[in-house]
Amino acid sequence: MKITVSTDICVEVASQIFKLINNTSTIALPTGNTPVDMYTELVKLSGTDLNWLKTNIFILDVYYPQDPNDPNSFYSYIKNNLLDNINLPPENFHILDSNTKNTVEECLKYEENINKAGGIDLAILGIGENGHIAFNEPGTLPNSETHLTNLTPETLAANGNIPGINQGLTMGIKTIMSAKKIFLLAKGKAKAKAVRDAVEGPISTSCPASYLQNHADCTFYLDEDAASLLATLQSHS
Ligand code: GLP
Repeated sequence: MKITVSTDICVEVASQIFKLINNTSTIALPTGNTPVDMYTELVKLSGTDLNWLKTNIFILDVYYPQDPNDPNSFYSYIKNNLLDNINLPPENFHILDSNTKNTVEECLKYEENINKAGGIDLAILGIGENGHIAFNEPGTLPNSETHLTNLTPETLAANGNIPGINQGLTMGIKTIMSAKKIFLLAKGKAKAKAVRDAVEGPISTSCPASYLQNHADCTFYLDEDAASLLATLQSHS
């Protein structure tokens, strides 16, 4: 696991993504407050160039059940922050159906579509204050594929307690770990403990992000606050 500490993590990660998108590549993307500036930067870099034509995007997770057009949905988020501003062919965009009647079938179909797209080249992740990645909450097993999950009260509160929502559909830990390369972004003091547990704690189901220690090519992009509890960095400074 590599660690990069910088004030401009979103700009750095956006430029890494931008290098990939002229080639055939499949990218898993997150929602949340942390990556908003990354999307702004990606849109800026894209300009008017026709460069997203060969890229496939898979969104990590969605609330369930929910109308995709709900203003709080992850579809609305990605549409506003990215899709409306780039030339990605609609058939190259993938998100779990947050209104499906058959979650098992929907999750299997998502795994199949990832495989058909050649697997994930790059997965961009955020992290929850309880160490979750995508919607893989504490207790999620490392062999999990895309699945329906219950959200913890703390995750629901951090995400603004959306009425009627207490579940989500999410790529599993195995799905995420199968990505060739992984970047995790974290900003702010509230994430410092989760980052420390993920990087320096034991690999444990109580902190799903700690599974990333087993990935061959994973970089954590952190601002100083998110990195503030890392003993590894303090011993070098
Ligand atoms: C949600 C998302 C995660 C995201 C996390 C952190 O729970 N499902 O994918 O990483 O929130 O979000 P934020 O960046 O807003 O702190």
